[in-house]
Amino acid sequence: MDNRIITTDMTEEDLPVEGSLRPQKLEEYIGQDKIKNTLKVFIEAAKQRNDSLDHVLFYGPPGLGKTTLSGIIANEMGVNLKVTSGPAIERPGDMAAILNNLQEGDILFVDEIHRLNRQVEEVLYPAMEDFVIDIMIGKGASARSIRLNLPKFTLVGATTRAGLLSAPLRDRFGVVQHLEFYSQKDLTTIVLRSADVLQVRIDEKGAREIARRSRGTPRLANRLLKRVRDFAQVKYDGIITQDVACFALDLLEVDSWGLDKVDRLVLKTLIVNFDGGPAGLETLAAAIGEDAGTLEDVYEPYLLKNGFINRTPRGRTATVLAYRHLGYPYPADPEDSHDEQTRGKQN
Ligand code: ADE
Repeated sequence: MDNRIITTDMTEEDLPVEGSLRPQKLEEYIGQDKIKNTLKVFIEAAKQRNDSLDHVLFYGPPGLGKTTLSGIIANEMGVNLKVTSGPAIERPGDMAAILNNLQEGDILFVDEIHRLNRQVEEVLYPAMEDFVIDIMIGKGASARSIRLNLPKFTLVGATTRAGLLSAPLRDRFGVVQHLEFYSQKDLTTIVLRSADVLQVRIDEKGAREIARRSRGTPRLANRLLKRVRDFAQVKYDGIITQDVACFALDLLEVDSWGLDKVDRLVLKTLIVNFDGGPAGLETLAAAIGEDAGTLEDVYEPYLLKNGFINRTPRGRTATVLAYRHLGYPYPADPEDSHDEQTRGKQN
């Protein structure tokens, strides 16, 4: 499952491309209109007051633009951006050193902020609230704490799961924004923009086909665009049309809904092994050989959002759409099955 083309994790291959495709200004950023409009007001207000921006928390599935937005905030505010992540900061002293090196107004972007450990997190509380850190000097009976003033900075935190953040940390963010999956229309515009940046020739229908199979996720749209470009270059005349996009994406086993082998395995397992469910998260994860956290964070959001599965108190169930998409007769459908009386009522 490591080579999953539709993984929304950042891969090494994405780095240079994502870097160059990333919009630098709010006005170049496509989609997430609510967030854009909110940020625009806060940025404008902070700039008018000559003040730093309040701390911002972005949450939502991976690949939707949390890092990009933090870069845009830094650009719009005309300040430096320092990037780190929850798992990278192991000791309170590491966090204190990062904070101490910031300059007035800087943005500190902490990706996967829910993965900070408790001691490191505690350094952040006074830093975020009063722009100070307390550090211990000496050991044993002679140990004492001294208070260091910090420049006024802005913490931008990103997480896939706001629920995993401790309440004291969550409460210290003045701005909390949820990133949504992108519409097909916005994704099509993103694909056209990226093709332009990469100088790839593409027509509207080709862009729409790539957008349709990108699970509402720009990171994925840009990655699929690159793969389809390779096919266009080698097998066709370099132009990405709908035919080229379909040919390439079918070969890569990314289907018309943007589901790949793993997604289809999740649905098939629910339908075949668990009679459509309900199946508990852990049970389902074990049956497909995947980690429960990954199943919940990476695969489920898109399947849920598009109505392929439901989450019930007793576990996950496959919907009629899942049965239809995989070509299985839905037990509750009189056209598909004659025993809807017994099975259908359970769903
Ligand atoms: N590239 C990746 N995400 C983008 C977005 N939201 N707008 C424009 N280009 C993008």
